[in-house]
Amino acid sequence: MTDVWNLYIAQDYLTPGARETVDLVRQHVPLDARTNVLEVAPGKGTTALTLAEEYGCRVLGVELHAFVNYARRAARKRGLGDRVSFVRGDGGALPVRDATFDAAICIGAPSIVGTERCLRAMHRALRPGGAIVVSDWTWTAADPPPEAVPPHVTGPFVTLDTYASAIRDAGFRIVHGEPLPQRVWDDHYAPLRGPVAEQRGADPTGPVDPIEAEMRAYDAAGADWWRYSAFVAVNMQA
Ligand SMILES: C[S@@+](CC[C@H](N)C(=O)[O-])C[C@H]1O[C@@H](n2cnc3c(N)ncnc32)[C@H](O)[C@@H]1O
Repeated sequence: MTDVWNLYIAQDYLTPGARETVDLVRQHVPLDARTNVLEVAPGKGTTALTLAEEYGCRVLGVELHAFVNYARRAARKRGLGDRVSFVRGDGGALPVRDATFDAAICIGAPSIVGTERCLRAMHRALRPGGAIVVSDWTWTAADPPPEAVPPHVTGPFVTLDTYASAIRDAGFRIVHGEPLPQRVWDDHYAPLRGPVAEQRGADPTGPVDPIEAEMRAYDAAGADWWRYSAFVAVNMQA
């Protein structure tokens, strides 16, 4: 792991537009001390802890990787251990009972979990009428040029419309589905640009970190082809 990767991991959120997506939760999802929220792939747990602190809701985070240890420590430090818990598990095979949550959130991760299986798993966990808020990388068209595609990214390159279809197919009615402002990508990379340039200056022919490669593709053509989109949708089960 290079310094740039560690710097990326040190961010509160690992996703462009996470703060804006949490704002959509605030706008669209009624939360209070009686609300049970599921967060799939919470990473460091920032969203779960923020919402529990603001609204007193209970949140369960299901995270595949060791981030769960960081998130648990953060919950204890913030005095939220009674309301927020994190378990290790797969977002496509959630270790929860059917229809037990009022809302489910997945920021920047459905496509990592596997979009269809993640959406279906969230649908199963939600009570009828419950809401999901999800965000993900989308593309302005399904056939981007090679210079817009970072080496670690493989297709299919999902557009806003294709993503919306997957959400409907999983049993939801969409109430909001739009790209976030394009600056969320710039904001996401901003803290990394100085260190990336410094590292490259010190070792011009050194290995290219995946984050650096991603930023190069963004600068080359990504700004025209990449979007970060967020959806709010309701479980249509009667
Ligand atoms: C881009 S990060 C997003 C993290 C967090 N939502 C955020 O916005 O900061 C993707 C997250 O998905 C988690 N992840 C990957 N595959 C997963 C799976 N199958 N089930 C649950 N979490 C998974 C990763 O460990 C990581 O925390």
